[in-house]
Amino acid sequence: MRERASRAIAECRLIGAMTEEPGSITRRFLTAPVRDVHAHLRARMESISLNVRVDAAGNMRGLWEPQGTAGRRLLMGSHIDTVPDAGAFDGVLGVTMALELVALAQERKLPLALEVIAFSEEEGVRFGVPFIGSRAVAGRFDPALLEIKDEDGITLGAAIREFGLDPTRLDEAAIGKDALAFFEIHIEQGPVLESEQLHVAAVTGIVGQSRLAVEFVGLANHAGTTPMSMRQDALTAAAEWITAVEQCALHMDGLAATVGRIAVKPGAANVVPGSATLALDIRHARDAARNAATEELLAKARAIADRRGLSVEWRQQMDVPAVPMDERLTAFIADAISAAGMPPKRMSSGAGHDAMVLASRMPTAMLFLRSPGGISHHPSETVLVEDVEAALHAGWNFLERFAAEIR
Ligand code: HGY
Ligand code: MN
Ligand code: MN
Repeated sequence: MRERASRAIAECRLIGAMTEEPGSITRRFLTAPVRDVHAHLRARMESISLNVRVDAAGNMRGLWEPQGTAGRRLLMGSHIDTVPDAGAFDGVLGVTMALELVALAQERKLPLALEVIAFSEEEGVRFGVPFIGSRAVAGRFDPALLEIKDEDGITLGAAIREFGLDPTRLDEAAIGKDALAFFEIHIEQGPVLESEQLHVAAVTGIVGQSRLAVEFVGLANHAGTTPMSMRQDALTAAAEWITAVEQCALHMDGLAATVGRIAVKPGAANVVPGSATLALDIRHARDAARNAATEELLAKARAIADRRGLSVEWRQQMDVPAVPMDERLTAFIADAISAAGMPPKRMSSGAGHDAMVLASRMPTAMLFLRSPGGISHHPSETVLVEDVEAALHAGWNFLERFAAEIR
């Protein structure tokens, strides 16, 4: 398994060089480097005799369907898009490890059909809406999304067409009834496994996520002639609210609230900002707590705007409920970890994953492996080969158990 683990890691590093920004890893939905990733993965998939296709959402899919396994298909995989200045393993490692497990299943003649999916978009960077690829596979793609524009004014539908795909065929991306379950391997992206010195864990559930665009609207004015007491400064209002977001999250157990992006207009040093648009990301394992926190933060935004003589508007971009993983499959994963000689750690995921979308269609389970330094969404994101090897052992034990038990 060590050789397979080394190859899975090497493949991630190689794919990491396929980027929009030479010198760092940035690969947004259906941008030019995705063509290189598709060419590479197609060659890799065809080298192990998979039947390869790219669906209308840009998901690359490799199917292994040995004699007698029709109707007994397990989906595996993860996403190949990244955040800006990303690490090399978030998402992609789930694809390269899945391909190693398929190759092993072929050698050991596992009586199961396996489809590996390299999802086209999970992060939501280019269009502000995540899970475009997995929504299509789950048959949950809302055609209204095709009208959303990226920062260059290109609609999602146009981006799909420009890539050479046909958005009118998106419904063909939806998985059929023969897909029995989805299994995603992913780096933890946090500090838990490292703090407990563990290789892997079974994921019990994924926290719910809300994403909102919040705009403070004031009045742009001259930075030199406008007295401090007579300003409607959108950026100072936003700054006051950002610290309120942090304070709210610090005082609510289990809440993660982040303002990760801000756009200021007109954006000149000698102009009082008239507009400040923020991206707010809120997460919690309990939906009621997440929704209450969202309400509280929006009320704070309104109060700050009122006091400062500004207005505030917001647009909900995402509201994904917390998703429990399938209990039976998660027990299989915990047993698989034990059978590989490791403590059967269970934990929830603070990060979102394609698994939370597929779970709306079929039994879904996840296996985490350690993130050294607990860091991710950062160039220093990495993995240890012994953890990848351990995850492959546990992953293989899971496949065998799944094939034996699932009728
Ligand atoms: O943001 C997330 O949780 C994931 O990495 N897309
Ligand atoms: Mn990510
Ligand atoms: Mn990810």
